[in-house]
Amino acid sequence: YRTLKIALLGGGTVGSQVARLLLENGAELSSRSGARIELAGIAVRDLDKPRDAALPRELFTTDAEQLILGADIVVELMGGIEPARELIVKALNSGADVVTGNKQLLAVHGPELFDLAGQVGAQLYYEAAVGGAIPIIRPLRDSLAGDSVTRILGIVNGTTNFVLDRMDVDGDELGEALAVATELGYAEADPTADIGGYDAAAKAALLAGLAFHTNVPLESVYREGIEDITKEQVDLAREMGYVVKLLAICERIADPATGEAAVSARVHPALVPRRHPLAAVHGAHNAVFVQAEAAGDLMFYGAGAGGVQTASAVLGDVVSAARRHVAGGPGVAESTHADLPVLPVSAAVTRY
Ligand code: NDP
Ligand code: HSE
Repeated sequence: YRTLKIALLGGGTVGSQVARLLLENGAELSSRSGARIELAGIAVRDLDKPRDAALPRELFTTDAEQLILGADIVVELMGGIEPARELIVKALNSGADVVTGNKQLLAVHGPELFDLAGQVGAQLYYEAAVGGAIPIIRPLRDSLAGDSVTRILGIVNGTTNFVLDRMDVDGDELGEALAVATELGYAEADPTADIGGYDAAAKAALLAGLAFHTNVPLESVYREGIEDITKEQVDLAREMGYVVKLLAICERIADPATGEAAVSARVHPALVPRRHPLAAVHGAHNAVFVQAEAAGDLMFYGAGAGGVQTASAVLGDVVSAARRHVAGGPGVAESTHADLPVLPVSAAVTRY
């Protein structure tokens, strides 16, 4: 067996679970990969923070750059733009494959990072960046590559779904429900990213880009959060037979002005009829409906946030990267080939 060294950047909610599962299930993951998978270290900010007792202290370091040197696979779970971007660039340039759950970074710098990966023959995996544990990146990129996706309709932020669900089912105020979601590890380091719809908008940009084989800049995704939603509105919606959900909607449509092919991507609170399957998505779960010309309707459902759940998606990517190292061969390029305009929200019509 060849040994593959894994450098883990970030040992927080998700990173600590990835490390624990790598240590507990290393032999099993190694046999699935065809290589011995070894956790070389975990980069964090603060060495004095209390950590999971199952993780040996000597694995922790504050020197992320040093940890990357000699790593075969770098797993970035720090979040934020910098230094995550710079470290991923260094990792790719050193020949390592990279696994990340950082949708914010990919929605802004994805094109340049995928280009770099292609140039150096490395691969950048990001299954955990959308939908937590739900496999949605690979199905869109690979399984549906021979079809034409027309529409995606999804609940893609676990925190806001948890908060809206608590407001609806338990009668919580937004603030109290958010405190619980943060405590449970669902929220971003700055929960404004969740409540303001920024996290969902980044995910919508990634989904629309993959589904429609084009680059969807984050700034062209229309975004509205749930910060102004009140318990009274949620109660009124319930009385009328609806539930309030934060939806991400991505569509391939004809530009009404020119008739040319275009894309619309938007995130906003919506009234979803109680009989609709999305109304039954509770807690921090996510669900993504995909409509494709040949396949018809598909639905992907599961835990959209949480440390151990997201670690499942990260480790799937680690095994894929390890298998690629064993088999050799070039990285799989992202299939962006078109440059479709992204229409403003006023040009789009939502039909449930
Ligand atoms: P946390 O805030 O819990 O953990 C971040 C980790 O990164 C911490 O260990 C922190 O160190 C470390 N870190 C941050 N900045 C630096 C730095 N400059 N140098 C060294 N270490 C650093 O985040 P999560 O685990 O929740 O999220 C990680 C990523 O995964 C994010 O991109 C997030 O969007 C994504 N994600 C999260 C999900 C979730 O449910 N939480 C689900 C899907 C994706 P220290 O511990 O010392 O503070
Ligand atoms: N904060 C994110 C959410 C984590 O609540 O969905 C998963 O990406």
